[in-house]
Amino acid sequence: MEVTAEQVHLLRKSFAIVERHPEVAALVFYRELFSIEPRLRGLFRNDIAAQATKLMEMLAGAIRLLDEPGRLVPVLEDLGRRHAGYGVEAAHYAVVRQALVAMLRKVLDRELTPEVLAAWAALYDVVEASMLRGAATAGADPGSGPAPTRRARG
Ligand code: HEM
Repeated sequence: MEVTAEQVHLLRKSFAIVERHPEVAALVFYRELFSIEPRLRGLFRNDIAAQATKLMEMLAGAIRLLDEPGRLVPVLEDLGRRHAGYGVEAAHYAVVRQALVAMLRKVLDRELTPEVLAAWAALYDVVEASMLRGAATAGADPGSGPAPTRRARG
């Protein structure tokens, strides 16, 4: 895992600030996301407010588990596999990264030092790489038995 102990510390400190304004953070994040790439709006079928809460919880979980990659990575791979099912493509991760940085700028303001920004970039690198690895195996899991479409000829 390429996130240093110092970066884990910075992430925990800065996320504590983000968590104090969860609604603002989520609102800014999605407004930014859909202004960069309006076509992404169509992928979201459920309530955006509820979705925002899930995204924040997942980031909180990732930050909590950063020093336990053995537990974190499989969770992210599963998340990435599900995202492939939502129609999310590899290129979309860069858009979400941009929206996340815009949200951090707004919520952290002066507290978003270059060091804090680098820590978030390192976190996102890990999340993105793990999710894309999971997505690459979506629908191609040879260990899970016969495909459900396979049936006896009659
Ligand atoms: C930092 C990376 C990301 C994290 C942590 C994250 C987190 C989540 C979580 C926790 C859910 C709830 C459902 C589930 O657990 O399967 C979800 C759903 C979803 N995410 Fe993400 N996500 C990320 C990146 C993306 C990207 C790049 C896109 C592309 C636009 C995206 C689009 C969606 C969509 C469309 C859903 C389904 C929502 C619905 O059905 O309304 N996510 N995401």
